[in-house]
Amino acid sequence: MISVTDLELRAGARILMSETNLRVQPGDRIGLVGRNGAGKTTTLKVMAGEGMPYAGTITRTGAVGYLPQDPRTGDLDVTARDRVLSARPRLDALLHDMEKTQIGMSEAVEDAHRDKLIRRYGRLEDQFAALGGYAAESEAARICANLGLPDRVMAQPLRTLSGGQRRRVELSRILFSDASILLLDEPTNHLDADSISWLRDHLKGHKAGLVVISHDVELLDAVVNKVWYLDANRAIIDFYNMGWSTYLQQRETDESVGAGASGPTRRRRPARCWRRPTRCGRRRPRRWLPRTWPSGPKRCCPGWKTYGSMTRSRGSGSRLRRPAGKRR
Ligand SMILES: Nc1ncnc2c1ncn2[C@@H]1O[C@H](COP(=O)(O)OP(=O)(O)OP(=O)(O)O)[C@@H](O)[C@H]1O
Ligand SMILES: [Mg+2]
Repeated sequence: MISVTDLELRAGARILMSETNLRVQPGDRIGLVGRNGAGKTTTLKVMAGEGMPYAGTITRTGAVGYLPQDPRTGDLDVTARDRVLSARPRLDALLHDMEKTQIGMSEAVEDAHRDKLIRRYGRLEDQFAALGGYAAESEAARICANLGLPDRVMAQPLRTLSGGQRRRVELSRILFSDASILLLDEPTNHLDADSISWLRDHLKGHKAGLVVISHDVELLDAVVNKVWYLDANRAIIDFYNMGWSTYLQQRETDESVGAGASGPTRRRRPARCWRRPTRCGRRRPRRWLPRTWPSGPKRCCPGWKTYGSMTRSRGSGSRLRRPAGKRR
């Protein structure tokens, strides 16, 4: 599970998100969407523990598999197969021990030493089999093949692979791992149509938690059961506890009535006045305004609710500030 409290993200001076609480649990398959540059990648990076938030706390239980939008650089001398298998550390360690012991056996001069190594190899092999090692190897090979990585490529060091192939290796590694939460940033990049179709089916049956950023609407439609819409203008996330097609209808309704997410799924502040500022002739409020905006609805223009009275600050014609006595 990933739990995020009071998250604030910034890119330089720009606030990407503020005072946001997030939770990813087993069974959640969340699509994180928003316009380009809204901060989706930054959000996922912070959730994965690879970036620091400006403020807020993040708690993770269980292993997290994170596919970043940009390729990682690591040890480029390992083969693609070893890279994928390293996702299950115990199996990986056993495999390396077995390989080392095998080399020792072939190089042993004394019979007694060779016998000792043979017995050791037998023990390691038993452990490997007990952990499902052979099945795991074929599972890894199956995932890789479905993502367009044939055996020939899997035997090559990462250094010799293209950027797209390395990214597919990383995606295979994450899908092969035992991670209880997957955070995937544009997983369909560099995949062909067959691989995308396979990935869609694979993620659809995924039981652990998943947050996926994707511009592939077919993938979102098939996979997600919740949508987080990161609104770059308001620097908040609207939460929709519904699948993709229902989300699109709901969003259309929200847009047509000039509101943000509505109904029971809406967890954050009401958005009516903020989303259509021109209707009431006021500029979009500064981001901190709604935090302690007083309760007790008042109307600021016909048919539009606002929350508290708006006042203008001295020296700034259109800038809004908190009502007197509410500033902290
Ligand atoms: N290393 C960086 N230094 C400074 N600003 C950055 C850096 N990385 C990203 N940004 C800025 O942070 C903002 C959010 O970027 P981010 O990559 O998280 O957006 P995104 O929603 O993932 O966009 P896209 O859909 O294009 O992938 C952007 O305005 C971007 O210019
Ligand atoms: Mg991005």
